[in-house]
Amino acid sequence: MPRRPQSIPANPGAALESLIGVFALALIAWQKKHGRHDLPWQNTQDAYAVWLSEIMLQQTQVSAVIPYYQRFRERFADVAALAAASEDDVLALWSGLGYYSRARNLHRAARQVVEIHGGKFPDTQEALMALPGVGRSTAAAILVFAFGKRAAILDGNVKRVLARLCAIDGYPGETAVAARLWQAAELLLPKSGLRAYTQGLMDLGATLCARRKPRCSECPAADLCIAHREGRAAQLPAAKPRKALPQRRTTMMVLRRAGEVLLEKRPPTGIWGGLWSFPEIESDADAAAICARRYGAEVEAQAALPLIAHGFTHFHLDILPLPLRVRRWPRTVAEPGLIWLSLEAAESAAIPKPVRQIIRQLSAE
Ligand code: ADE
Repeated sequence: MPRRPQSIPANPGAALESLIGVFALALIAWQKKHGRHDLPWQNTQDAYAVWLSEIMLQQTQVSAVIPYYQRFRERFADVAALAAASEDDVLALWSGLGYYSRARNLHRAARQVVEIHGGKFPDTQEALMALPGVGRSTAAAILVFAFGKRAAILDGNVKRVLARLCAIDGYPGETAVAARLWQAAELLLPKSGLRAYTQGLMDLGATLCARRKPRCSECPAADLCIAHREGRAAQLPAAKPRKALPQRRTTMMVLRRAGEVLLEKRPPTGIWGGLWSFPEIESDADAAAICARRYGAEVEAQAALPLIAHGFTHFHLDILPLPLRVRRWPRTVAEPGLIWLSLEAAESAAIPKPVRQIIRQLSAE
């Protein structure tokens, strides 16, 4: 029979059995002493608060989320208030937090909670996962924190903790690897103490069990951790197999007139869907000719501002901001989807990050 490496057993459950119970006990004790207890969304069982924070915390660090979370709570006291807002207002408040599909899904989910569930969040995995933006791990976090139920989370940080603890090889983005991680997450769940256990997994993943330079000497699970015993904690989980991202270029026309700039509403889907941005043209296009054709305007190109490099998950975008002084603008009725705003007003509109960078540069002139 071919020999298997110790960390890939024929029955993955077998390697985990020795961890069941003991890992949870150690983690819960550590969480109580060293974990986080005063985050703004803790110490509540309000499903709206828990759901809102969990959506914001997807792909975003706690320190970045806190001010946004507080602003949302102040502006929208409950799910009904959020559902009653316009998408534009929700996007504006979300502006700068990134991954804007989360904001659109948040708004749609709020409306569903009101329309389908009478304004009360459902308390089953199935109904929670039917809400836009709520995946299996987010649903589990809501079940645990808001409803005290027993469910397994598996966000990016927790994948790292479990990949190391159970020495699960392979890139977690692969289905088979993810399936083993979920299996581990389910098997290791304690019978009680779910809130401290779940928060402990998050806290451990965000602090000691860091991606680079894990602090294993302080870890409550160091004695149990198979990767640590094998001296390869820092090598797990395996990195994504590398693929060079495509590089794209665009020019943003920064049309200026009497202290104002022209913003254009982007289509509802695609990058920065529904946000306000500068009109874009191909990098080698003639901006003045395009303004004449598109708007019937007469403009004069000025020196370009420094290039802004922006990273998306699937490509890199180099943005050239091109200021254009407007000499003549036709006296037509305002077109929908186009708006002239002062720099100050533009900065508080629903705009993507690079657009904010450009506006700040203009304000500093
Ligand atoms: N990351 C995801 N959910 C979290 C939470 N509730 N607290 C801290 N970090 C988190």
